[in-house]
Amino acid sequence: MNKDVKEPYLLTPGPLTTSYATKAAMLRDWGSWDDDFNQVTADVRTQLLVMAQAASNEYACVPMQGSGTFAVESALACATDPDGKVLVLMNGAYGKRAAQLLQMMGRRYVTLDKGDYLPPQPNEVAALLQQDPEITAVFLVHCETSSGILNPLEAIAEVVHARGKTLIVDAMSSFGGIPISLSKTPIDVLVSSANKCIEGVPGFGFVIIRRALLEAGKGRTHSLSLDLHAQWAYMEHTGQWRFTPPTHAVVAFQAALAQHREEGGVPGRCARYTRNRDALVNGMRALGFSTLLEDEWLSPIITTFLSPADPAFEFNAFYAALKARGFLIYPGKLTAVDSFRIGCIGQLDVSVIETLLIAIQDALADMDVSPIADLSSQSGSA
Ligand SMILES: Cc1ncc(COP(=O)(O)O)c(C=O)c1O
Repeated sequence: MNKDVKEPYLLTPGPLTTSYATKAAMLRDWGSWDDDFNQVTADVRTQLLVMAQAASNEYACVPMQGSGTFAVESALACATDPDGKVLVLMNGAYGKRAAQLLQMMGRRYVTLDKGDYLPPQPNEVAALLQQDPEITAVFLVHCETSSGILNPLEAIAEVVHARGKTLIVDAMSSFGGIPISLSKTPIDVLVSSANKCIEGVPGFGFVIIRRALLEAGKGRTHSLSLDLHAQWAYMEHTGQWRFTPPTHAVVAFQAALAQHREEGGVPGRCARYTRNRDALVNGMRALGFSTLLEDEWLSPIITTFLSPADPAFEFNAFYAALKARGFLIYPGKLTAVDSFRIGCIGQLDVSVIETLLIAIQDALADMDVSPIADLSSQSGSA
């Protein structure tokens, strides 16, 4: 953990608190064309396919420079048919962003918008696919980080697959921390990034995509730099990234992958994040806070808490008080209710959460806030 470094814990959905070994891996410079670096890239791509349980003859892993959104954009541009139509399942900011990306690319789409915190249901998806045969692909955010809800990926994947449509999953904040098996769940495209549950540093995302879709995506992309097919073709041919790679982020990611394996892979990491989440939710409830979501939908990634109704509570002051005590939390991203979020991912364990809970109690006392959320004035529970 981070005991030797005096820096705040990032209780955020990424960038997050990374290990010393991951940071230390960045203390060397690499030639982006050099074989040593190309081997790191090849190794990372292979390891990601293994983590996704994706057969390498069926799927390819294509890394893409930039933040997670760059990877989502490159995936949507490559994997959606310009003559088709995408059903975007929305229950937060990242579903909305996918629709915005499609809009900007001039691709047709329809939406199922469930608001801030309700999950799209498989039967609703089935009905929409039935009603509109022009739909060719479905976009789903697995863990919608804006509320922390874990959407029902497996059940929706079955519905989409049974109707022969393409499923594109934004697993940005879940991949590596929550089990996802492409050999068991019919997902055609999965997008994630370096600085989430694999606990690397920011700099690139990656797309795990069916080879047939990748090949069909040749020439479809509106953007020179975000052309997923071109990135893949160049990487297959030369072993190199098409444009300057985030070299330090890639080697840090390789170090993070080794730690992920040592922790027991996805099940091991999921178990630690779940312990963090349980300690956090139980501790916050004991302090009088309420979660936005019912237990069934709480992810082990990030939890949204309703702000206390007490007028003495002000998020910026609360944030500053916790920062002064060594913790960075995250503002809320809901449209209807005041809230804040606390992440469970990164190099943290239950002992960190316990210290956080003491810091929260302390901060509220300093602010003179009673932490009991007034649910009667907020439409918060799922
Ligand atoms: C589910 C999800 N999708 C997309 C993104 C966008 O990633 P970025 O902010 O790295 O562009 C995020 C970021 O947190 C996310 O959680």
